[in-house]
Amino acid sequence: MREIEKKAAKAYRQRFGEEPELVASAPGRVNLIGEHTDYNGGFVLPCAIDRRIAVAVGSGETRLYSADFDETRQALEKDSSWADYPRGVAWAMGEGGHEIGPFMAAFAGNVPLGSGLSSSAAIEAATALALDAFFGLGVARTDLAIICQRAENDYVGVGTGIMDQYASLLCEAGAALLVDCRSLEARSVPLDLGAAGLALIVCDTRVERGLADTGYNDRRTTCERAAKMVGVEELRDATEGDLDLLSGAELKRARHVITENARVLQAVEALTDNNFDEFGRLMYASHASLRDDYEVSTPELDTFVETAEIHGATGARLTGAGFGGCAIALIPDSETEKLTDACKQTFSEREFAEPAFYQFVPAAGAELAS
Ligand code: GLA
Repeated sequence: MREIEKKAAKAYRQRFGEEPELVASAPGRVNLIGEHTDYNGGFVLPCAIDRRIAVAVGSGETRLYSADFDETRQALEKDSSWADYPRGVAWAMGEGGHEIGPFMAAFAGNVPLGSGLSSSAAIEAATALALDAFFGLGVARTDLAIICQRAENDYVGVGTGIMDQYASLLCEAGAALLVDCRSLEARSVPLDLGAAGLALIVCDTRVERGLADTGYNDRRTTCERAAKMVGVEELRDATEGDLDLLSGAELKRARHVITENARVLQAVEALTDNNFDEFGRLMYASHASLRDDYEVSTPELDTFVETAEIHGATGARLTGAGFGGCAIALIPDSETEKLTDACKQTFSEREFAEPAFYQFVPAAGAELAS
């Protein structure tokens, strides 16, 4: 058992006075490339990170306990707390015709919250896998991901695509996950950073993102409008030629989506050829497109990417929705400290909040602990 899984089991014992019947955990994620493409039916390439949320489950009148908040919630009413995520999963399972009885659950996690590393997908995926096993449902992981997305969209009320839930449930250690967000087919793409002498550095700019009250929904609507204007169902089907039919925000957003989808496929080819230079070039191009065409970057995210480039990063870009949150860099192992030091200094000179840094290796998706 991982430490975080032991912590959830211990929290369960302490809170409910008995042994849990099972423990599951699921990771947060970073997206390597393919941003704002998922809700346009396109391609994404995330990998899971070695930070997880664990849940211990057993029988009893439904109660949810969080060790991190030291807080117990009855599962009955939505109350805009962390408990809405597991409640939403139980609700979405019911809506999907899966029979869920009462259960007690204790959670413990180490995914940074609210910074764009998908702590919400992690708690949803851990809950979904645990309840699936606990109630013997036998639901496929891809369907569990859809259940989790439904929980987030229709219960919690945040309109996200499918990427985060797919990443949390389907990623494999040492690999990225290529997802076709229309067919929902996914396959692992080996990502051996160690062999390439590269480190994956994440910079949390500490600029809080609120997906619901930012431009996320606005971007989605603009994309839908642009798709209509060029006569396709989703921007996935639009071509560069179609851009002639657009202007203003629709043109910029569509240009990002079309070029980003192409970059994901090129990035997969680059990884397959072990060509990290090309992979890095695509990361920088993705960032520029998110900054200039999709307009979801911030001065902090741009500063990190610029600093990374100056310090020899192979590639760097914002990751996740943008509007704050995190950026990533692939950088030679030996250079990581220089980069984080330089970043801290530049952030302080520019009077930005002090950033936090993490180094991750591509980790395993959701698992039942044994
Ligand atoms: C958030 C959403 C994802 C995806 C990204 C942008 O992380 O949860 O579904 O849309 O933004 O790529």
